[in-house]
Amino acid sequence: MAGSLKGRHFLKEQDFTPAEWRDLLALTGELKSARAAGREQQMLGGLNLALIFEKTSTRTRSAFEVAAHQQGAHVTQMDGNSSQLGHKESPADTARVLSRLFDGIEYRGTHQSTVEKIAHYSSVPVWNGLTDEWHPTQSLCDMFTMRESSGLDDHDIAFAYVGDARFNVGCSLLIGGALLGMDVRIVAPGKLLPPDSVVRTAREIAAATGARITLTDDLDAVKGCRFIHTDIWVSMGESESVWTERILLLQGYQVNTALLERTGVPEVKFMHCLPAYHNRETTVGEAIYQRFGLEELEVTEEVFESPASIVFDQAENRMHSIKALLIATLT
Ligand code: CP
Ligand code: NVA
Repeated sequence: MAGSLKGRHFLKEQDFTPAEWRDLLALTGELKSARAAGREQQMLGGLNLALIFEKTSTRTRSAFEVAAHQQGAHVTQMDGNSSQLGHKESPADTARVLSRLFDGIEYRGTHQSTVEKIAHYSSVPVWNGLTDEWHPTQSLCDMFTMRESSGLDDHDIAFAYVGDARFNVGCSLLIGGALLGMDVRIVAPGKLLPPDSVVRTAREIAAATGARITLTDDLDAVKGCRFIHTDIWVSMGESESVWTERILLLQGYQVNTALLERTGVPEVKFMHCLPAYHNRETTVGEAIYQRFGLEELEVTEEVFESPASIVFDQAENRMHSIKALLIATLT
């Protein structure tokens, strides 16, 4: 046990030690098993949580809400339109007001500096629900899901993230995997590899944890991987105008059956934080089809719907892992 995490903010992966990560993952497993066995104990009764979403969300919002409700806590949802945050009130003032009323604050928005500022001025734990730079509740879930799915020790887990690796999910998986000593392969065109500062941090962590870090534009790097992750090619907040360039850069990095076969691992699993563009059944998916003639983008329908796809187990695990985070930082 690494010790209590009570009162800690959860802003990005490297703020926590490998031992603290392992404790959060162990607690996630205990909570998931307890719920399945009908022996969950409520530990957050009477607490109030503020959930701020300046960007849209299905999973993160639902995971925080359901985890809180199952544990006896109440939540208040806020966004940029229905609250004063951003346009009339600064992050510093908002943080000082909310932490007089609430026991914890979740924040999703554009800039990491905003969630860092909220945390600086808050007297209660602040959890990063996604910024452009980091998505640590996602990587917590993903590390848990890879363990659960494979039954392997962290050191024996090899995974690849294939796609736009500059953004939140790619960077968070790189650092999360480094902290747990995994074999991490980041596969992306040179222009879409993680920023140098993130790579430096990953290599420093890996030197201490025994993680193996590969950054390459070569798809052969997926060989031996038990898990292939990807994310959407154009993230929330990016301009529509980047689609053309992004498709040109990433079309060769689509996760399809041939790519899964290239791992040479019969048990290979496909993971995606979601939402995903794998058919024309969304407004954006249809618009992309009309503009570019492409029916599927970062992942094919065949892979998404295949037995190799564990994306809905992964989505469920957002709730169990966020519940662990709430309990660890609030009690
Ligand atoms: N994966 C994820 O964060 O999903 P939402 O954007 O729906 O919260
Ligand atoms: N990179 C994506 C992740 C969504 C969960 C985005 O920021 O839109």
